[in-house]
Amino acid sequence: MRIAVLGGSFNPVHMGHLVLADSVLSSFSYDRVILIPAFQSPLKDESRGAGPRDRLDMLLAAVAADPRFSVDDCELKREGISYTIDTVEDLARRYKPQGRLGLILGDDLAANFHQWKRAEEIASLTDIIIAHRTSRGELPFPYAHKRLSNPVIDISSGSLRESIRKGEGWEHLVPSGARFIIRDRSLYLAQGRESGGPEKHGASGPAEGFWSIAARVEAELGKLVPFKRFIHSRNTALMAWDLARAYGLDPGRAYLAGIGHDICKSLSSTELLRTARRDGKALSRLERKNPALLHGRAGAVYLQERYRVTDSGILEAVALHTVGDSDMGPLAKVIYIADKLEWNRENAGALRDMLERLPFPDLDELFAAVLNDSVAFLDSHEITISGSTRRLLARMDKKGRQ
Ligand SMILES: [Fe+2]
Ligand SMILES: [Fe+2]
Repeated sequence: MRIAVLGGSFNPVHMGHLVLADSVLSSFSYDRVILIPAFQSPLKDESRGAGPRDRLDMLLAAVAADPRFSVDDCELKREGISYTIDTVEDLARRYKPQGRLGLILGDDLAANFHQWKRAEEIASLTDIIIAHRTSRGELPFPYAHKRLSNPVIDISSGSLRESIRKGEGWEHLVPSGARFIIRDRSLYLAQGRESGGPEKHGASGPAEGFWSIAARVEAELGKLVPFKRFIHSRNTALMAWDLARAYGLDPGRAYLAGIGHDICKSLSSTELLRTARRDGKALSRLERKNPALLHGRAGAVYLQERYRVTDSGILEAVALHTVGDSDMGPLAKVIYIADKLEWNRENAGALRDMLERLPFPDLDELFAAVLNDSVAFLDSHEITISGSTRRLLARMDKKGRQ
């Protein structure tokens, strides 16, 4: 296999890195580009921004399911200053590439290449590929090399870190998998030194966050439910995200609850009864008679067991979105509302208009309107209203009269 190598801090990885690696593959006859995050670059202060584990996780997420790219953590394992010659020798020994390793260098680094440790040896062991990182003309480079004719993508990790910290638009510049990790772990929000302390690379990473889980749930949901249900779930997640922002809740939690709320909708009655029961609560007579009502409870069990979701607010929101309960928290109300008002719900236009009016309705006001509408629908179709919904109605009525 013919291999090229792209090293860097990847703090964070961005589209410019992937476009560069892509250009190398399409311009020369390499089969794969290996991305190598530096533990400590000899030329850069690596202490700002994310730590080695976060940088590695972002990189792995950025190239997921793309066999053209791989990530090797040899420099992180080695710790200390990451010298390219050590990496080149290590990779050549382990991968035994066909021909020499391609070594991708930005022209911003090429000017100082002669100062690198054992620069002559690097040049003799690898095929150096000089890529444009700056739009300036071709700088002289006194070692054997190939020039890559690549587009200059004007993104730097430094300016990205600054944009993330200031909350300026940055999302489109970062591959989606890495984006979820930045959001989940709140990376780059603090000024100056933050998680940059070189925590042990082997240590297990932070618990998986809401956005990363939501991405996995969304991918699986497409296989579990019909397309129409998938679009409904995605719309519910988006509206839940909007509402969470309006009501000061965590939008990531809302999105996850929204995308997962109907994940068990296509289960058979037997599977619904079997799954929902594992939440340890009793089954009502209505639930036994109509197991479809259990798809919320079953969904919460499924998210907990399969995706290790432990957030009680998210689990409650999924479990209660079908019939509600007298004691619903704010996130559960948001999901209940979003489920009924999302843009593909044909008959929800009048209620949806409440979201366009000023002043914006408070959460309980909107929830009461949606609940009353649902109950009126059930009544008009002579559908039995569950005990939970009745208790909830009674409580909302009482609140309304106070
Ligand atoms: Fe549902
Ligand atoms: Fe739904």
